[in-house]
Amino acid sequence: MAEELILNTTASKEEKYQSLIPQIEALVSVESDLIANLANISAALKEGMGFFWVGFYIVKDDELVLGPFQGPIACTRIHKGKGVCGTAWAESKTIIVDDVDQFPGHIACSSASKSEIVLPAFKGGDVAFILDVDSDQLADFDAVDQKWLEELMRMVEKIN
Ligand code: SME
Repeated sequence: MAEELILNTTASKEEKYQSLIPQIEALVSVESDLIANLANISAALKEGMGFFWVGFYIVKDDELVLGPFQGPIACTRIHKGKGVCGTAWAESKTIIVDDVDQFPGHIACSSASKSEIVLPAFKGGDVAFILDVDSDQLADFDAVDQKWLEELMRMVEKIN
C-alpha cells in the first residue's frame, strides 16, 4: 500500500477525483475491516479534495450513527427523514444542497457549513451508509462531485 497519496493541488476538481478515486480503491482493496476502510476513505477525501467536513453515518436500527469522519466534531445520531442525511436515507438518493439555510430541517452540526452533498450506499437493497460532505462555501458541490462520489459509494458497498 502506498504510504502517501499522490496529489496535484493545482488540478481541476475532475482531475483531482480522477487521480484520487483509484488510489482510494487501491487502499481499501488490501484491507477488509469496515471501520479501517471508512476511516481511510474519509482521510483521503479530506486531504485530496480539501473538504471542510467529510464522513460517514452508519445505519444502526432506526438511526444514523456517526462513523469515521474528518473535520470538526459532529452530531452523533440522526433519525430517518431528519436533516439532509436522514432525508437522503429516507429517499435512498443523493442530495445536493447549495445553501443549507434553505433546506427545511437542516441539522447544523457546524455553523460554518454552508453547502453539502449527501450520498447513500446500499447493502441488500437497503441504505447501510451515508456519506456526508460539507463545505464552508455556498453551492460548492455539483454533478462532478455527484458522479465521482457515487462511484466511491459503489466501492463502499463492496467492503465487507
Ligand atoms: N448537516 C447534516 C448533519 C450532519 S453534519 O453536517 C456533519 C444534516 O442536515 O443531515
